Amino acid sequence: MAAARGEFSSRFGFVMAAAGSAVGLGNIWGFPTQAASNGGAAFLLVYLVLAFTLAYPVLMAELIIGRFAHSNAVNALRRISPTPASGRVGVSVGVVGIVVASLILSFYAIVAGWMIAFGLSSGANLLGMNALADWLTSFSLSGNLLFMGIFMLMTIGIISAGVGGGIERWSARLMPLLLITLVSLVAYVLTLEGAMDGLKVYLLPDFERALSPKLIIAALGSAFFSLSLGVGTMLIYGSYISDRENLTALGGLVTLVDISIAVTAGFLVLPAMYAALASGVQIFTEGGALISEDTLIFTVLPELFSTMGLAGLIVSITFFFLMSIAALTSSISMLEVPVAFAIEEYGLARKKAVFIIGGLIAVASAVILLNFDTLFGLVVTVTTRYAQPLLGLCFCIFAGWLWRRDAILQELKKGNPEVAQGVFWKIWPWYIRFVCPVIIAAIFVQSLWG
Ligand code: TRP
Repeated sequence: MAAARGEFSSRFGFVMAAAGSAVGLGNIWGFPTQAASNGGAAFLLVYLVLAFTLAYPVLMAELIIGRFAHSNAVNALRRISPTPASGRVGVSVGVVGIVVASLILSFYAIVAGWMIAFGLSSGANLLGMNALADWLTSFSLSGNLLFMGIFMLMTIGIISAGVGGGIERWSARLMPLLLITLVSLVAYVLTLEGAMDGLKVYLLPDFERALSPKLIIAALGSAFFSLSLGVGTMLIYGSYISDRENLTALGGLVTLVDISIAVTAGFLVLPAMYAALASGVQIFTEGGALISEDTLIFTVLPELFSTMGLAGLIVSITFFFLMSIAALTSSISMLEVPVAFAIEEYGLARKKAVFIIGGLIAVASAVILLNFDTLFGLVVTVTTRYAQPLLGLCFCIFAGWLWRRDAILQELKKGNPEVAQGVFWKIWPWYIRFVCPVIIAAIFVQSLWG
């Protein structure tokens, strides 16, 4: 049963992979559009506070449990459980996490497919193939199925190459590329007319709005989705970290990279929106609300790009290329969750597991596409709004209440012998025990009414 487990070969490799998982459509699409429709700087502020005070502790819980068990979530939660009954709860939490990770991938692959199609469309325009370009952005069923399928094949290809040769190698290649593309786009967009108005909205907070419950729920959801929490993604990546590494520092670094990229993406999207406004594109409704919050990227940005002529086409190709890369380094981390489970618990060979599970998820995506109006929103809501916070809560309970505290300390000491004297160990144990579960529960209850 026990095939040799993969391991990240270097600290850099792990940070790129985990940051690659964290940085995705959530950061570059979700965060800036949410910020834009929730008062800009106010949202930024709340997001920053919640990411460090709530998401980082939960990320640490997943990483510590994962590295301790060096195995998938189901087995890991079973092993840290003190009694057979809590072990069974652990197994259920792990299994639900696997299902949720797979469902998240099934809608994520659809959105990622759109990104590829939009990038290719600008390429087609550049070559004068206008009919093709129009078809590519028409969200037709055949196009949707095709690009979802292409994206799933890329995800499957990387994951079938394993931890070192697949996840680590590709994350370490793609993440620096993503960073360069993002920074160049920001530099360019900031030179456009109107961009400074967007910058003001993004950076000058309206403190009254920062305290609205709706904004806080949106910011927490955004932070949890952005750090890939609750479904065992970070747990499984943690299980591939070597015992020599300092976990608290690595987790901190990943959080920092994730947040910095979300914040940087805000410097791209908000100024771009106001630049679009300045060039005559309508971005607000009569009432002053943002048009089509969720599809902003597919409506407002292409319109902005199209006002910029040839340069616009290049910028558009670059932008959607950036989105596709960000999506790919995230989707591999979702597929690894069920795959690692199938390999470790059922002794399947990696390639076989990847093709079967990846294929099933592609089928699920196709089912969503065929019933788009009923299923898409439903799957997004059920997985990200309900399942993720609830599973996150379960992880807090396992790390804070069920697992022996001295075992946690032993695990942390492996790569950091002085950890017991540091700030982390003074705060985190009671934090994950009381503060995180209470706040997550409160926000969850709120969101039921929301
Ligand atoms: N964090 C990624 C993003 O921001 C998405 C992601 C990857 C994810 N793995 C996950 C979200 C697991 C939830 C659960 O786009």
